[in-house]
Amino acid sequence: MSKIHHLKLSSCFFRPERPRDYLVLFIYISILTCLIVSISLVLRTSSPPSYDVPENSLDFPVTASAVVQTNISHIQFCIAGANETWLDRSQYTSLWWRNSTRGFVWLDKPVKIPDNRFLIPTRVSDPSWTRFNFSSSRDGVRIARIIWDSYQANLPNVRWFVMGDDDTVFFTDNLVKILSKYDHEQMWYIGGNSESVEQDEVHTYDMAFGGGGFAISRPLMTRLAAAIDGCLDRYFYFYGSDQRIAACISELGVPLTQERGFHQLDIREDPYGFLAAHPLAPLVSLHHLDYLDPMFPNQNTIESLQTLMKPYTLDPNRILQQINCHDRKRQWSISISWGYSIQIYTYFLSATELATPLQTFKTWRSWSNGSFTFNTRPLSPDPCERPVVYFMDGAEALREGMTKTWYSLGDKKYGHCEKSEHSKVTEVKRILVTSMKIDPEYWKRAPQRQCCEVVKGGGRSKKEELSIKIRKCGYSEKI
Ligand SMILES: *[C@@H]1O[C@H](CO)[C@@H](O)[C@H](O)[C@H]1NC(C)=O
Ligand SMILES: *[C@@H]1O[C@H](CO)[C@@H](O)[C@H](O)[C@H]1NC(C)=O
Ligand SMILES: *[C@@H]1O[C@H](CO)[C@@H](O)[C@H](O)[C@H]1NC(C)=O
Ligand SMILES: *[C@@H]1O[C@H](CO)[C@@H](O)[C@H](O)[C@H]1NC(C)=O
Ligand SMILES: *[C@@H]1O[C@H](CO)[C@@H](O)[C@H](O)[C@H]1NC(C)=O
Repeated sequence: MSKIHHLKLSSCFFRPERPRDYLVLFIYISILTCLIVSISLVLRTSSPPSYDVPENSLDFPVTASAVVQTNISHIQFCIAGANETWLDRSQYTSLWWRNSTRGFVWLDKPVKIPDNRFLIPTRVSDPSWTRFNFSSSRDGVRIARIIWDSYQANLPNVRWFVMGDDDTVFFTDNLVKILSKYDHEQMWYIGGNSESVEQDEVHTYDMAFGGGGFAISRPLMTRLAAAIDGCLDRYFYFYGSDQRIAACISELGVPLTQERGFHQLDIREDPYGFLAAHPLAPLVSLHHLDYLDPMFPNQNTIESLQTLMKPYTLDPNRILQQINCHDRKRQWSISISWGYSIQIYTYFLSATELATPLQTFKTWRSWSNGSFTFNTRPLSPDPCERPVVYFMDGAEALREGMTKTWYSLGDKKYGHCEKSEHSKVTEVKRILVTSMKIDPEYWKRAPQRQCCEVVKGGGRSKKEELSIKIRKCGYSEKI
């Protein structure tokens, strides 16, 4: 007792005299070393990460070219799944998951089947999520805590964490393109809200809806992962996981940055009008497709997505991009949703009208006619005022960076119109569209819709086939 007391008091002046004292000194130093090491470890994990600390020194300016462009390997996907539904839902994930894709699908319980038939790694959520009050939604809590699980996975060289559902279809080339516009060393929260005003009002406009997916940069993720448990306590009453995460990010003072290519798709019935008039932004995600009519006629939902993936892989930047033009001679208005569909109207519609989605869908929550966070045009009750609709049924690469897609007359059950103007259109059975691949810098510049024109002559059978060329607009060309 007294010995220890003596050591404590005079530790700085301790002079060993006997072998026993050397042993005590050794133990003492060992304990001290242990203490110092563990304190420094604790400080390292709880202090801000190193990229936050240095102001880039003027002696060593970081030039833009020295920074490696963000690519798919810098993204860790954090997908919310469940053992009950994974077998079914993995059909969606396997549409876009490649072997360069990193991350995990987080399940509540292990799945029996060897699911590496899709190469998609699954993990089971850390069971500690059950200690939170999950009375308002078990899944809401577990899925929000995927933030913590994903951060703990500690994968190297991750710049962005991208959350999504197991029925979210990501267009990863475009996701990478969008994220590479932002400085991943700053705190970003990027996604989209709901298309449905009801949903945005019930939840909030300032949150990224989880099904559309959203991206969190690493500096924000570091803070969020540390804060999430407190937030799960404070926001136990929310229903959705995405709303809990949004509330937590809000505590960190970071707002939502909206990108218009993330699609929660809070709509019902036929998404046609929306997908045929996509906003002028790269397509990043689609969601809720299980609940919507299939995109293509005579194909189921998964087949439709497989069809869409063909043109997407040829020219990812262009998928679903809308290009409008007129055939002045025949007084037609033509609207192309590249890789998906073409609409032809037998009369002139302005550029604004063509860019406004036809309302072929209802709201998610109340199955009503609105409102949406964008304008819509009603589908006219008169079949003669409705467009004649074509669907893509093939895509191929041509030489010199060109692509060809073709579209054939599709049945949209838009009714039959007897007028001769209408039947002149329906004589056209097939439309060929050629375009240059969009240059890789396209989405980094101020957005501008491209132009199209009907190519004169050509085709074997003039009446049955129409050729359209997509190109950059002339200097002051008007649509
Ligand atoms: C992505 O960038 C890293 C550098 O951070 C590089 O090593 C890797 O090869 C790149 N991956 C792809 C798929 O381009
Ligand atoms: C990953 O993809 C590459 C290119 O598509 C392929 O050659 C390779 O076999 C794939 N690896 C695995 C493990 O499937
Ligand atoms: C889901 O978990 C339950 C209980 O652990 C198990 O019995 C069932 O087989 C699992 N489902 C699948 C598809 O593996
Ligand atoms: C959990 O939250 C509910 C409200 O959703 C509340 O009624 C209940 O008392 C809470 N339980 C605990 C253990 O705090
Ligand atoms: C929605 O609008 C359509 C066309 O304007 C109309 O026929 C339909 O009755 C409306 N439905 C509801 C639920 O308001």
